[in-house]
Amino acid sequence: MKVEKIMVIGAGQMGSGIAQVCAQAGYKVILNDLKAEYVERGLGVIRKNLSRQVDKGRMEQQAMDEVIANIEGSSDIASAKEADLVIEAAVENMDIKTKIFAQLDELAPEHAILASNTSSLPITEIAAATKRPEKVIGMHFMNPVPVMKLVEIIRGLATADEVYGTIEDITKKIGKVPVEVNDFPGFVSNRILMPMINEAIYTLYEGVASKEAIDEVMKLGMNHPMGPLTLADFIGLDTCLYIMETLHEGFGDDKYRPCPLLRKYVKAGWLGRKSGRGFYIYE
Ligand code: CAA
Repeated sequence: MKVEKIMVIGAGQMGSGIAQVCAQAGYKVILNDLKAEYVERGLGVIRKNLSRQVDKGRMEQQAMDEVIANIEGSSDIASAKEADLVIEAAVENMDIKTKIFAQLDELAPEHAILASNTSSLPITEIAAATKRPEKVIGMHFMNPVPVMKLVEIIRGLATADEVYGTIEDITKKIGKVPVEVNDFPGFVSNRILMPMINEAIYTLYEGVASKEAIDEVMKLGMNHPMGPLTLADFIGLDTCLYIMETLHEGFGDDKYRPCPLLRKYVKAGWLGRKSGRGFYIYE
């Protein structure tokens, strides 16, 4: 399957990163969000990331200009008409995702592959909102997208081998490492990462140690680049809670019960870095 134009739905942290790495690999990219100002903000993040590379002498200004020229902004989902592949990176909410996929199914060319960057929602259920479940697949990027090597590729129940192969090739072309997983709640990454983060929050909740101590143990003791509470703030506490709830509901096992302290922080609007306060305070 030939893919030349990739549409990315959602110009937030993940979507803008995905658009950047695709454009850097030479793909034509449509960066879409609900409002032009969101798209502009996403493009601003991409410009800033690339400028840093230019300043450090790792990229020529001309190369940066070419990457930027590969990306067009759009606030109309009908731009999907031009796409060979759509990567959806909208909010983690099944109702919103199924609505988007139903619309994309109507709009995108028959040959187009529809991928979701969902971090834990079932690909099979998202695919069921379309009449092309064989062309629906999960492409789970890690944050920050330009830095992290992994893309978890999730096969839905009906995903065709040919579609999997195309997505695997594209993942390699954009400089990432594809890892194949099957469609179960949280896939592999968040099934393992989130219970660890949740346990770190329980450790704080039960007064075993201070937040700094918990992070220090995991950073220095396990060589993690960030402690689990810092990482939770980085990911977003609302996202962490949503993923824990998806695991809890999906497996029905108490070991996935979200820590009450996590719920309390989210209710308080302490969502981590993005809101200026989570376990830590950000200026
Ligand atoms: N966008 C682009 N580049 C970024 C970036 C961003 N948001 N943040 C950092 N970088 C780049 C920096 O520019 C720097 O690049 P150079 O080396 O080329 O100069 C490099 O990354 C290292 O950055 P720093 O020196 O500022 O900081 P650091 O060494 O502490 O690294 C980090 C930052 C890469 C984020 C590192 O702390 C890390 O790997 N943290 C863990 C990240 C992680 O676990 N991500 C997965 C989250 S889970 C997820 O995404 C899935 C999910 O579904 C929830």
